Formats: sequence, C-alpha cells, structure tokens
Amino acid sequence: MKTKYFKVLESLDNVTLKLIIDAYKNGEPIAFPTETVYGLGVDAFNEKAVNLIYKVKGRPKDNPLILHIGRLSQLQEIVETIPEKGKILIKAFWPGPLTLVLNKKKNLFPKNIGMDGTIGVRMPDQLITEAIFSQGNLVIAAPSANLSGRPSPTIARHVLEDLNGKIWGVIDGGICKEGIESTIVSLVDIEPILLRPGSITQKMIEEVIGPIKIDDSLLSDYKVGVALAPGMKYKHYAPEGKSYIMKTRESNKIILKTIEKENVKKEKIALLIFENNKSHYQINVGHFFILGKENKLKEVIHNFYRVLRECDKLGIELLFIESSKEEGLGFSYMNRLKKAAKYNYLNKED
Ligand code: TXA
Ligand code: MG
Repeated sequence: MKTKYFKVLESLDNVTLKLIIDAYKNGEPIAFPTETVYGLGVDAFNEKAVNLIYKVKGRPKDNPLILHIGRLSQLQEIVETIPEKGKILIKAFWPGPLTLVLNKKKNLFPKNIGMDGTIGVRMPDQLITEAIFSQGNLVIAAPSANLSGRPSPTIARHVLEDLNGKIWGVIDGGICKEGIESTIVSLVDIEPILLRPGSITQKMIEEVIGPIKIDDSLLSDYKVGVALAPGMKYKHYAPEGKSYIMKTRESNKIILKTIEKENVKKEKIALLIFENNKSHYQINVGHFFILGKENKLKEVIHNFYRVLRECDKLGIELLFIESSKEEGLGFSYMNRLKKAAKYNYLNKED
C-alpha cells in the first residue's frame, strides 16, 4: 500500500476533506495531527479497523485506544453520563490535551474498544482534525502514530518513518504544539484519578475540580505492573541507544567514568541537557542536544521526542539525559524520561 500524504497549509480543500472522511468511513487507518502528538485513527465503530490498528502498531491487546471527537455533541453517543467534575474539566480544557476516562454507553461499541466498561475520550485542539471529525461525524479511535515502544511522532515525517506503506494516509498539520501525550484523568470513581501526566498539570486540574488522586504507578518506579492506564506499564517512548537519567548538573566525573565503562565511541554518544547548564558540561562527546531551558519546561517537552528520534537517526548508542524537578510540568517530563531510559539512573556510587 502506498501511503497517501496530505499537506495542510491553511485548511484542506473540500474534495480532499471528503476523500479523507470517506476513507475513514471505509475503515482505513489515517494518521492525523493533534496538539499533543500525531494519532493513528480509525472509525471507532468498525471492529475490523480497530483490530487493524493493533496489528499495524504491534500494540498489546490489553491496551485500549483513546476515542477522539470533533465536537461536544458526539460525546453523548459514547458515554452514559457526564459527571459534574467532567463537565467542569471539559469547559476548562476542551478542545485540548486532556483525556477523560468515563463509563461508556452500554452495548454501543465493538468489544475491542475501551476497558472494563469505560472509555478514554478527548477532543483535540487542532483545527483541521476538528473539522474532519466534526464534518464527518466521526468518532475516531487512535493511539499515537508510532510503532509500539518508539517515541511518539510530533511531525508527519516521524509517522512515515514508522508507518509508511502500512497505512492509507497521513495528514501533515505541521509540528505538534505540545509534544507529549495528553493528560489522562479517570472520573469513573467518586475520586478523580490522574492516570498519565501531560501538559495539563495536576495543579491546573485541582484549580477547577479540587483534589485528585495520583495513580500509584506514577509515584513509584517499580510498581508499573499495577498502572490503571495499561499503556503506562509498557516500555515506551524509548530511543534505540542505552539511556542514562542524569541529575540536574550531573558531575562530569561520573559521566566520564560511565563513558569509559560503556566503551562507546564518542561519535555515538549524546548529552541531552538544559540550555542554562550548557557550560557546566565539560565533556568531549559527539553530540549535545539542548532540550530547552530548565525553567521553560514547556519547551523541553515540546522538543523531547523529536530529539530522541534524532538520536536514533544518528545511530546514537549512549544517551545521557538531564532531569528536572518532579513538579508541575517537570512531573510529566520526568514520567516520559524515566520510561524512555527504562528507569536507568546514572550510578552515583561509582
Ligand atoms: O495525546 C494523546 O493522548 C495521543 C493523541 C493521539 O491523542 N494519544 C495517545 O494514545 O497517547 P496512546 O494509545 O498512545 O495512549 C493511550 C493511553 C494508554 O496508556 C491506555 O492504556 C490509556 O490511554 N487508556 C485508554 N483507554 C483507557 C481506559 N478506558 N481506561 C484506562 N486507560 C485507558
Ligand atoms: Mg502511545
């Protein structure tokens, strides 16, 4: 299959819009832009098409897909009721990078959608995507548009790196504004639970609905097996090289010792650091990547996956990645960094 490529400049012309809507209705998988990362979408009501997504991505079967809608009225088609706190969150953050887990409407979906009678749903903040889903009255089931385990794509080229020839089409809406996946909040129990941190932080949520619980799996490195969002327990977002999590302004001596121990050529080593700490690192390696400023984590998050993919392109075998504080956006950044590096901390005892 030759993957069709659609470049969106200001908007899509009506002919292309219809072509894409019809393809979705025929069960074709099409990658689309969102404000977080690119999604790989299919019609959520088409059981065969949903199965195909798992196959194309190599995704474990027990990991449910998020449903995406283009306008609010579509929500009634898929959920039983919207709890009060859900209404407040929707008003505050939709369209935007927040997924809500809600009780799904009875007997509505193919079996392979959702989990334990619940579904994750969100409305992306991306004009062209909103237009397609809304005009086509499409509810789109979509994971991130990467092969399972790889960093999520934040530009259309990344989607093609993983999926060219395997999907019907990709819609290029440019670079994703946020750069990491949506925040997920479950409203299934009385107490709301944060299942995945993203660019909408715990504090931003608590400002509108009061206290929320943090899923245990986010607080511990090793209890990942009990994650309420199944996707959070898998190896994720990982570059091909071995990655070390460094502390902020890590000691040069420790890094040098580790390089010696790993015995990797300097051309194949990269340091991923904050701009303000550049002069701290006096180490002769092939590649330095600036993720952004330590006090501008929005920038860091925006760049993180793209830089991981650049490292793969360069054949980097050893990565040292700088940590931030685990609060606010730093909690979300560190969540992705720990998974990318498989909880491999630079050994401070050496
Ligand atoms: O920003 C995003 O959320 C992107 C864009 C494409 O929308 N999507 C995304 O999808 O990150 P994916 O499949 O990579 O991650 C979905 C996460 C997984 O961790 C999955 O386990 C969880 O959402 N999830 C989906 N439905 C759920 C449910 N009913 N209950 C608990 N967790 C759920
Ligand atoms: Mg994903």
